[in-house]
This record gives sequence, C-alpha cells and structure tokens, in this order.
Amino acid sequence: MRIAVAREIDPTENRVAATPETVKKMKGLGADVSVEPDAGTKSGIPDAEFAAAGATVTDAAVKDADVVLKVRRPAASELARYKKGALVIAMMDPYDEDAALKAMADAGIVAFAMELLPRITRAQVMDVLSSQANLAGYRAVIDAAAEYGRALPMMMTAAGTVPAAKLFVMGAGVAGLQAIATARRLGAIVTATDVRPAAKEQVESLGAKFIAVEDEEFKQAETAGGYAKEMSKEYQAKQAALVSEHIKKQDIVITTALIPGRPAPRLISKDMVASMRPGSVIVDLAVERGGNCELAQAGEVVESGGVKIVGHRNVPGRIAASASSLYARNLFAFLEILVDKNAKALAVNWGDEIVKATALTRDGAVIHPSFAPKSAA
Ligand code: NAI
Repeated sequence: MRIAVAREIDPTENRVAATPETVKKMKGLGADVSVEPDAGTKSGIPDAEFAAAGATVTDAAVKDADVVLKVRRPAASELARYKKGALVIAMMDPYDEDAALKAMADAGIVAFAMELLPRITRAQVMDVLSSQANLAGYRAVIDAAAEYGRALPMMMTAAGTVPAAKLFVMGAGVAGLQAIATARRLGAIVTATDVRPAAKEQVESLGAKFIAVEDEEFKQAETAGGYAKEMSKEYQAKQAALVSEHIKKQDIVITTALIPGRPAPRLISKDMVASMRPGSVIVDLAVERGGNCELAQAGEVVESGGVKIVGHRNVPGRIAASASSLYARNLFAFLEILVDKNAKALAVNWGDEIVKATALTRDGAVIHPSFAPKSAA
C-alpha cells in the first residue's frame, strides 16, 4: 500500500494533507509513505521532519501511489501524474464543477470528497468542514481585531474607560460558534443570529445574546442533516428588517452563513453597511460562496464609507499549521476505514455509509448520486 502526500500547486494554499504525526500512523497501518518536496513548508513542516517520521521525500511521490492525500481537488496537470484507480482524498469542492468532476472520472481515479461526509457520530473525527470552519471562526475574529482601530475589551485606565466592542456573528454553526467564543474571550459584547432553532441554545451557552426572527418557518429551518434550508422571501425580508436595526449599533460583524450546495444567503446590503459607523469592520467568511455581504470582494479588504469589509479567501489557510494538523488527522481517520488492518492493505467497503456519501468518481464515471450526469443517475 503506497500513500503519497502531495504538495498543493495552488499558490494560495498553505495547508498540507499530512503531518509527521499522521505519517507515523500511516506507517503503522503498514503503508509506504512518500511526500512531495516542500509539501509542508508553508505549514511549518520541513521535509526533514517528514523524513524523520519515516516518509520518503521525492518528486515521484504520486507516481504509482495507491492513495494520494491532498487538500484541494487535483488539477488536470496533477491528474495526469496519478495512476489509474488511485484513491484521491481531498476537499473536492464538487458543487457546480461538472467539468472538473468529469476530468477526474476520465483520469480513472477514485475521488473522495471529504466535505460530503455524513454528519453522523462515527464520521465526526473525519469532519473536515468542522475542523476547518472552527479555525476559520477563530481567525475571523483575529482578522477583525487586527483591522479594527480600537480595543475589543472594556479597559478602565487612569485616562478613562475604553468601551467594549459590540460584535455580531451571523450564522452560528461551527465557525460562528467559535467566533462567538473567541470574541467573548477577547472581551467583546457578543450577539449572534441563525435560522436554525438549535443554534439559539448554543449561542446562549457561550454567553452571547441570540437575535432572530423566531416564527413558524424558523422552527422548521433545520434539515435532517443538521444544515440550514434556504429561507423564503418573506422570512428574508423580516430577517433583513431585524438585522438592519441591529447592525447600525455594531462595531464588528462576522458573517458565516452558508447553505450546502447553494450560494451564500445575502444578509448585509449596501445600505446596511452605510448605516454603520466609520471604523467598523465586517468579516465575510462566506465570500468564496458569493458572500453574505453585498460589498465583500473575494481576496480583498475593501472600504466603504469608512467601514472595512474583509473578504479573505481560504481563511483556514491563514492559520495553516493548526489547520493542517487537524485536516491531516481527519484524513487519517478516513483512511483507516479504507484499510484492512490485518492484511495491511486497502480494502474499500463500497457499501459503507461514509464511503458511499463521499465517493465522487470510480471506474471512469461520476458515481455520486448528487453529482452524476442526470441521464446516468
Ligand atoms: P454551514 O457552514 O453550512 O452554515 C453556517 C451557519 O449559517 C449554519 O449554522 C446555518 O444555519 C447558518 N445560516 C444559513 N442561512 C442563514 C441565514 N439566512 N441567516 C443566518 N444564518 C444562516 O453549517 P456548519 O457550521 O457546518 O454546521 C451546521 C450545524 O451542523 C452545526 O451547528 C451543528 O449543529 C451541526 N453539525 C453536526 C455535526 C455532527 O457530526 N453531528 C458536525 C458538525 C456540525
């Protein structure tokens, strides 16, 4: 069983799919592990540390590999180097990417999309969405604090009192809850909103105040999978009215609202931004899925009427060492279910709920029911 750890070719990607810790564990499964040179450099892991953990560091790592571990979906130039039938495990970003999925099918690889894991207890240890969103939520507060020209905590000094910042978190899922916790630790006065009723208790348990339109639709807004539904036009209007009153009084707003497979809901209009005081900061964690804030630009910090709107891409990659360490553990946990530990060989159980939910391509075709071409599905 040969496992390769790829160097990410996207120059904006700082993470890596394995660490020396997980290399040792893969060796423990009986695998030969190869790592492409410089794979971990941007996560603070020199090649020598991978070598010390028992990996071979080589440009030829992916050639002949039975399993390739990656952060991002492989590009055409990478696919050309993988052997047919190789299992490629990564965040495949599969939505609205038919051509890219077909390219993986055509390359003959078995692509596993880690973001499609079912949210069941057994899969929690593999949940890359949670591990990465958690760090993104933390980093969003750090980025906001860095852009904000004032202190977050209340400070009583001989020269007078500095008031605490008012910080509003929109979307209280994994990222939002971590943003709330981080902002509370930094001393901000925190409020939060979500459309899922379950979020209310979680927000309040972190010491923040919950603000939402709690009507009949709100009571039904959670899917069986634990995700938010896209809300009706009527609900969105009521939500916008509530938010526009609240947002005027906020110093920092962090938005994290997402709906799987859909564009991010638009929660902050241009007018709402204009109602905020100069010096306020908005961090839009949904910017890569279209943005929660109308003015957010992916990859940029823009200013409008003195309000800074932060739209960094790949926020987990801004805290790459921690993000890689958790991502690598998620991938190792996933890999473990693909291996027969006694035979020390790959043994994929295609009937396993986790395998079925994540397998995108196999034997030259896109096989996942949500992504297979309609005629084949
Ligand atoms: P996500 O990243 O898809 O969305 C972020 C948040 O935005 C969600 O809380 C969602 O309800 C909210 N949102 C969507 N539309 C909105 C709108 N119009 N206005 C305000 N908020 C809006 O979700 P995430 O963070 O990945 O997880 C959602 C929930 O799933 C978690 O809070 C948790 O309860 C559950 N979960 C369960 C796991 C398990 O293994 N059992 C693992 C991780 C999460």
